[in-house]
Amino acid sequence: MSQLTQEINKRRTFAIISHPDAGKTTLTEKLLLFGGAIHVAGAVKSNKIKKTATSDWMEIEKQRGISVATSVMAFDYACTSQSTLPGVESDGQEHQYKINILDTPGHQDFAEDTYRTLTAVDSVIIVIDCAKGVETQTRKLMEVCRMRNTPVIVFINKMDREGKDPFDLIDEVEKELKITCRPLTWPINIGERFKGVYNLFESSLNLYTPSKQTISESVAIQSLDDPLLDERVGERDAEKLREDVELLSGVYPDFDKEAYLDGQLAPVFFGSALNNFGVRELLDCFCQIAPSPKPTKTVERIVQPEEQEFAGFVFKIHANMDSNHRSCIAFVKVCSGKFERGIYYKHVRLGQKMRFSAPTCFMAQKKEVVDECWPGDIVGLPDNGGTFKIGDTITSGEDLHFTGIPSFSPELFMYIENADPMKAKQLAKGIDQLMDEGVAQVFINQFNGRKVIGTVGQLQFEVIQYRLEHEYNAKCRWEPIRLYKACWMQTDDEEQLRDFKRRKMQFMATDKEGRDVFLAESGYVLSMAQQDFPHIKFHFTSEF
Ligand code: G4P
Repeated sequence: MSQLTQEINKRRTFAIISHPDAGKTTLTEKLLLFGGAIHVAGAVKSNKIKKTATSDWMEIEKQRGISVATSVMAFDYACTSQSTLPGVESDGQEHQYKINILDTPGHQDFAEDTYRTLTAVDSVIIVIDCAKGVETQTRKLMEVCRMRNTPVIVFINKMDREGKDPFDLIDEVEKELKITCRPLTWPINIGERFKGVYNLFESSLNLYTPSKQTISESVAIQSLDDPLLDERVGERDAEKLREDVELLSGVYPDFDKEAYLDGQLAPVFFGSALNNFGVRELLDCFCQIAPSPKPTKTVERIVQPEEQEFAGFVFKIHANMDSNHRSCIAFVKVCSGKFERGIYYKHVRLGQKMRFSAPTCFMAQKKEVVDECWPGDIVGLPDNGGTFKIGDTITSGEDLHFTGIPSFSPELFMYIENADPMKAKQLAKGIDQLMDEGVAQVFINQFNGRKVIGTVGQLQFEVIQYRLEHEYNAKCRWEPIRLYKACWMQTDDEEQLRDFKRRKMQFMATDKEGRDVFLAESGYVLSMAQQDFPHIKFHFTSEF
């Protein structure tokens, strides 16, 4: 097997997503502990924006700065495969994995960042708080996963606290996230009476001892009739577990790896990240079933990771908030071949050859200069002069254009106006560059030529105003505009589209890629438009 194939097979690139506070940071940290990448709990700086600081966005940006280091966390993990899951090969041997966790900002004002990060992962783990169930942010993120058929594993967290009944929780996940579930571990009681989880695919019992550091005790039992079960968890709980397991095998389909890889079936695990409980089962199973880097679509063709020639795309740009060093890091996902330091690559949009003398990789908490990266890895390229845009492609030479960094409809809209007529050029340049970085979206009204900025949170308007002033020496003013959503349109009926555009002239805009966008004033206006123009489909995302 070639080195390239070996490296690809080893890699698992994924994101942990959750509603804020469900336990994403805690779970990430425990995974790093298992990988030996960190040695004590508490080492991972939460990139969570502290609640107290939400009104002070400079503070938030500073805190976000911390997250550059935690944007990607890679670690090596040795897993012994002894799974009995159908479709999963198990040779009892130890296998090495290289795990890349892509961090996603918890703050909802940066949701757009998270959506883009999801385009660079091959699978996700969704963390759900057992007391709160499925929350808004989880629902939204799942919609993005569904668009791309991303394989999903669900981790139901905080089982050491009182929460909902596990059957009800799974029902809720299935209904709210529109995915079929298959539990692979099952909890024995919950909250103060939580005794542990039964591993349905290894027939072993994991007994819970509340502890933030140590790893729980695992007891192998022959079957659910084993008297050892009653001995360890008590007769009542043992009986309940037997009933539950019988019930669930009737209710939920068998685990099917293909259905999981297709994004149709989500394996479910129960545990407590804080107590490091149920995490190893999750990680072991994840290593064995999660996909290694998948082929990536480009406008021209599908790129296979095994191809010798390097190709990758920029999915995130992180700017330094320090105005003295207007430096950025462009995060590139390696899609095929090997990326090497100091080699000339083609920046396809600019048609230029460039080489990178200090590309960085991220091992756990450290950022290091790297010599080579493989498919599935994320490489950080320093950018001092707006060289990169979100969605840019870099290759060994071929003209490829990666598709699938979609735009999503913003939630808030404002007209941006020039507050200093002497600085019109600076303002235009600043807006252009900030939009390329993905801070927000700009739409140009086709009727009056005015620029509308759309964001997912109020915070971004302040960020844009501040950065325009400090980095571009330009001043802007905001003028409110009441809009509901930006809609990208799809139709086979050109005539109807022309008619629609004529009728809605004042609300038609052009996005950064030159596509037509309908800026709907309200939900009512949109549903009327849908009724009156049945041959036009309105989408809240540019990818459909
Ligand atoms: P997030 O990244 O998804 O926003 O969540 P994070 O891991 O920061 O966890 C949110 C809170 O939930 C934290 O408490 C964390 O300690 C707690 N938590 C996480 N997993 C578990 C669990 O399995 N059981 C219990 N009981 N609590 C859990 P906090 O008080 O907000 O923060 P901290 O002061 O503990 O850091």
